[in-house]
Amino acid sequence: MASADARTAAKPAGIGSSAGYVEVSNLYVTFHTARGATEAVRDLSVTIEPGQFVSVLGPSGCGKSTLLRIAAGLLRPSGGEMRIGGEAVKGPRPDVGVVFQQPTLLPWKNVLANVLLPAKSLGLNMAAARTRAMDLLKMAGLDKFAESYPNELSGGMQQRAGIVRGLIQDPTVLLMDEPFSALDAMTRERMMDELQAIWMKAGKTVLFITHSIPEAVYLSDRVLVLSPRPAQLVEDLTIDIPRPRSLETMSEPGFTAYTKHLREIFAKLDH
Ligand SMILES: Nc1ncnc2c1ncn2[C@@H]1O[C@H](COP(=O)(O)OP(=O)(O)O)[C@@H](O)[C@H]1O
Ligand SMILES: [Mg+2]
Repeated sequence: MASADARTAAKPAGIGSSAGYVEVSNLYVTFHTARGATEAVRDLSVTIEPGQFVSVLGPSGCGKSTLLRIAAGLLRPSGGEMRIGGEAVKGPRPDVGVVFQQPTLLPWKNVLANVLLPAKSLGLNMAAARTRAMDLLKMAGLDKFAESYPNELSGGMQQRAGIVRGLIQDPTVLLMDEPFSALDAMTRERMMDELQAIWMKAGKTVLFITHSIPEAVYLSDRVLVLSPRPAQLVEDLTIDIPRPRSLETMSEPGFTAYTKHLREIFAKLDH
């Protein structure tokens, strides 16, 4: 695959062979509410390789966030299993970072305190976490805003702080649930560029949920398409476009061939 070199180069020495693997095996999720049962995921199986950037694309309400919440250890499946780094997911873990759709920063804490929250709840070494936080904030262009409060930042800056928070524990696997969907088009494009740069540098496995076809193609090694609820895998597409990709990439024939193919799949989905 096109990004193999970046991934190999970034792989830390001595890391266990299963680190970074995300394995979904015969996963089922049914929600039971007063109004009855909702089957959100049905018999989903997929393996994501270490260092891969994989997008999950699917219609609204199909079960994408449900899948991410299971990977994050925030929700238990009704059947089947989710394994990360060879271990069944049982709760939030230091090797798995999460970035949500909304930055969900606590308004009464400054940016630095907000990005340190996962380190605190996971019981990590706070002195080391603080140093790492400042490095990451610098990378995200937010080092001057470490002492600022969320309401003093633009939407894009808050979302970048949310990404920094997801990276604070230096996770092997980063889970992102439509992290750019609340941003305006310009900010969104810049954030896509920044995320690609972060990923190329850090070599992490990324599971990226989106409902945007161009965003998925731009960022991913692989795009998984889910059916309308209950989520089942309907396409597993390898995106073989060299990196780094740029905004010009989006108007190249290779890029548009992928987006056209995915649009055709979407059009055939019954939703
Ligand atoms: N906690 C819950 N209780 C009941 N139903 C839920 C719950 N979470 C999600 N659902 C339902 O499961 C389906 C999938 O939701 P979700 O994973 O959020 O979809 P997506 O992220 O793809 O838009 C939807 O029909 C939603 O209403
Ligand atoms: Mg969702």
